[in-house]
Amino acid sequence: GLYQEKHRPQFHFTPEAKWMNDPNGMYYYKGKYHLFYQFYPDSTVWGPMHWGHAESKDMINWEHLPIALYPDSLGLIFSGGAVVDLNNTSGFGTKENPPIVATFTHHNMAGEKAKTNDFQTQSIAYSLDEGTEWTKYEQNPVIPNTEKIKDFRDPKVVWHEKSQKWILVLAAYDKVKLYASPNLIDWNFLSDFGIEGDTRLWECPDLFPIKVEGSDEEKWALIVSIQKDAPNGGTATSYFIGDFDGKEFKSDVKDQKWLDWGADNYAFVTWNNIPENDGRILGIGWMSNWQYALIVPTEKWRSAMTLPRELQLVKTELDYSLLSIPAQETQSLRKDSVSLDPFKVEGKHVLEGSFSPSQFEIVMNIDLKETTAQSFGIELKNGLGENLVITFDRAEEKLYVDRTNSSTNKFSEAFFSKKHSAPLSLKDDILKIQLFVDASSLELFLNDGELNFTDIFFPTEKFDTVSLFANDGNLNISDTNMYSLNGIWN
Ligand code: FRU
Repeated sequence: GLYQEKHRPQFHFTPEAKWMNDPNGMYYYKGKYHLFYQFYPDSTVWGPMHWGHAESKDMINWEHLPIALYPDSLGLIFSGGAVVDLNNTSGFGTKENPPIVATFTHHNMAGEKAKTNDFQTQSIAYSLDEGTEWTKYEQNPVIPNTEKIKDFRDPKVVWHEKSQKWILVLAAYDKVKLYASPNLIDWNFLSDFGIEGDTRLWECPDLFPIKVEGSDEEKWALIVSIQKDAPNGGTATSYFIGDFDGKEFKSDVKDQKWLDWGADNYAFVTWNNIPENDGRILGIGWMSNWQYALIVPTEKWRSAMTLPRELQLVKTELDYSLLSIPAQETQSLRKDSVSLDPFKVEGKHVLEGSFSPSQFEIVMNIDLKETTAQSFGIELKNGLGENLVITFDRAEEKLYVDRTNSSTNKFSEAFFSKKHSAPLSLKDDILKIQLFVDASSLELFLNDGELNFTDIFFPTEKFDTVSLFANDGNLNISDTNMYSLNGIWN
């Protein structure tokens, strides 16, 4: 049946067929979350980009809609954002029926071939019917590439209350550029922001205000995706926390932090127009990595999105950190649940119950004071001996995710070459683990989002066993909830 192919995620967003990369143009309007995405409807590898479109009442169950934006004489449609222009500042709609305005990059192939260096420009389109039909602005582009910057793309917009202006951020090779506009059409350059000496390619920026949890203090977050040398190889999403005065973004720290330590959360960006009485900062990422995205072994479609996530800003003694937690709507996926009494694991313990080891969620508290093992973890396995091992190493203070033996089909050198890791702080007595496993992905959230880790995998046969293990000692688990999860496509 539909969505039953090998490796097909059961509770993550995927296109029904063909190639997908970055999430684009996300906004909430009239009870629906809209998601657009980089889409090539003619092939399962990257090609001339369109914006695919889907909508959802809960960011979990999606309805596929017709393609929103097609390539045109100015070029392909690369990544960008969209805003609900509630006051009709653009004049494209009315106050009664405000326009949705999308900002995107036109990528001109002829210009790229001729090496003109100004082949990426910023354009807009608007919709007056909640996002189904789009009209491109007649005088596109709205931000030409006057400096001839080869990588000049991915415009995303936010409303700045204080200056009563729209602020646009885009990636310009190894930095971002900010622009301001009263109407989403006429843009003035404001400033650059980058790291001295950084020569990596930056993509898909997102700038927005965010309140510190439990206080009224407001900071600004700048998310940027980085195209090489991520902690676990290839591409990943990072962020800075700082202040924005209407002109410049000033980061509190010199280097960025990683939004997700895994290999497979790229181009993560946030939803526009979340109602004030909700107040959450919600986003989604592309669950792949440019190192191998084009050659992962799926046949009908390629790539999935992460689960929708809420970002929370916390103030620590040193600085600020963004936590990522699964959006509360993910709880609607829970079908049957089993709670386990506190128990101890020595050696190995297979988890059994009415859940599928390739489609479940587990929430577990480890009592570190009562745990003697120096390392412990979770293993997913199948009858062919392929496995994926998550290890919490107390001595090294590291989390390891080892997918090197997750398939005998070694479709990519980079995918299998090394164990992934992340720094793990075990300062509290309890380690809180929340893990989502789908057919070909895992998303791990530790201590309510303090660390999160997303990795994909493609076992020859589905994983059919989940076990806990403890090395040299015991593992003491104080609290466990196992959930079987619904699929979203039936
Ligand atoms: C990021 C990216 C963007 C670009 C898009 C093209 O994954 O390279 O910078 O707009 O993909 O599909």
